Amino acid sequence: STDALGFLRLAEDIAREAGEMLLAKRPGMSTASGDIETKSSPTDVVTALDKASEQLIRARIQAARPGDRILGEEEGEAGGDSAVRWIVDPIDGTVNFLYGLPEWAVSIAVEVAGRIVAGVVNVVPRGEVFTAALGAGAHLSAGGLGGERLRCNTGVPLERALVATGFGYGAGRRAVQGEVVAAVLPRVRDIRRGGSCAVDLCSVAAGRVDAYYERGVNRWDYAAAGLVASEAGARMGGLNGEPAGPGLVLCAAPDLFEGLHDLLASLDPDRDA
Ligand code: IPD
Ligand code: CA
Ligand code: CA
Ligand code: CA
Repeated sequence: STDALGFLRLAEDIAREAGEMLLAKRPGMSTASGDIETKSSPTDVVTALDKASEQLIRARIQAARPGDRILGEEEGEAGGDSAVRWIVDPIDGTVNFLYGLPEWAVSIAVEVAGRIVAGVVNVVPRGEVFTAALGAGAHLSAGGLGGERLRCNTGVPLERALVATGFGYGAGRRAVQGEVVAAVLPRVRDIRRGGSCAVDLCSVAAGRVDAYYERGVNRWDYAAAGLVASEAGARMGGLNGEPAGPGLVLCAAPDLFEGLHDLLASLDPDRDA
């Protein structure tokens, strides 16, 4: 089946189940726990629960849709030559999760023939579930209540924009990202660094921030939340008309997108350190 709403229902069920497992097991976590390993750099952490969440999600997808491909942050890509690919971030915002900050999410997207058709971002500690299906809008349900339709903010000039951003884990990359954010800060209302790309994009969708940009994020960080944002009327893109990608993910209402894009392009966020 390629029915977006059917995929969304399954993705949402799985993301809610993973969220419940994480909430139940998180009290055993601490920043000193032996359950923490590092990945690309000493600041790039992964916990045993990131892996457990991905395993649960993979098992549920495989049981329901055995032929589909799955791409997940912790285990990579596997599956047959199906046109359906699930894109999974088992915990987006692992550092917040580890420290007990309430901004982390389970993110699951479904891609059919290269196009994201359904996405769910379960912001577990806040009890908020963001969902989107291609062409059917973006919704937020909180505390078990039915979904509220989301619209991003529009008509916000750059100098009054509240802009979320994030920093990748590589030390050299961070030095450049620090220079870029220092140049953006005096041009906008303020900056927010929430710690989860997926939550940041959902915040654009909900009008809690006006824009989000980050360089160096991966497909699983923004696959689901990017659909939530675009179904809420925001534009998702990269530099110079390219699609959003590791080079840059920029998200804002179409009018604000242009101004922020041109500012970022002039600062050259694409240069590597
Ligand atoms: C990270 C978060 C963070 C962003 C990083 C991501 P993770 O994902 O989304 O906000 O700044 O670039 O890698 O590792 O917590 O899943
Ligand atoms: Ca990670
Ligand atoms: Ca992530
Ligand atoms: Ca993750």
